[in-house]
Amino acid sequence: MNADPRVMEFFVGTTPKERSREQASLMRDGLQRDGYGWFVLELRDEPGFAGVIAVADIGWDAPFEPRREVGWRLPVDRWGNGYATEGASAALRYVFNELSWHEVVAMTAASNERSQKVMRRLGMTRNPTDDFDHPSIPDGHPIRRHVLYRLRSAYVHALPG
Ligand SMILES: CC(C)(COP(=O)(O)OP(=O)(O)OC[C@H]1O[C@@H](n2cnc3c(N)ncnc32)[C@H](O)[C@@H]1OP(=O)(O)O)[C@@H](O)C(=O)NCCC(=O)NCCS
Repeated sequence: MNADPRVMEFFVGTTPKERSREQASLMRDGLQRDGYGWFVLELRDEPGFAGVIAVADIGWDAPFEPRREVGWRLPVDRWGNGYATEGASAALRYVFNELSWHEVVAMTAASNERSQKVMRRLGMTRNPTDDFDHPSIPDGHPIRRHVLYRLRSAYVHALPG
């Protein structure tokens, strides 16, 4: 998934398989330590890897609060079925209802319309004054400009699915 340029269109580059394995191991450690983080998405009738859904702490010096995000990444052959929205809904219900989180953000490149559609399907809202230039993306890079969407726990009952 991470080595596929279609999946990584709105990131600075693809990630080689070996590095993805290292990241997966760190994500597994994080889940065990915290009880939240980067979950593997599986389909009910078809066990196996179908992507990742994150409800995670933001580990860098982000220009917004709260530093907790929801995110998603699926292999191309899983797009277009509603899986990202369904998985993110379940993860958000979990952190709002079970872990008592009050608010989460989601961020992506301003040009990543497909991801912003997931945010809007979840009921997340964007205030353009929250838009920001991602500090780890080089100046002048086409995906540097990012949008920020928010969802508060009060809206947990309106999540789809
Ligand atoms: C962003 C990403 C997860 C979106 O995936 P997606 O499959 O479009 O999103 P969803 O799971 O919400 O699926 C919604 C689509 O499935 C369709 N769909 C088909 N059957 C459906 C069903 N039974 N229920 C719901 N939706 C269904 C919807 O109509 C919608 O299609 P549309 O957007 O063309 O109208 C995916 O493009 C991706 O992994 N991109 C690369 C990584 C990335 O950019 N991540 C975000 C960075 S922050």
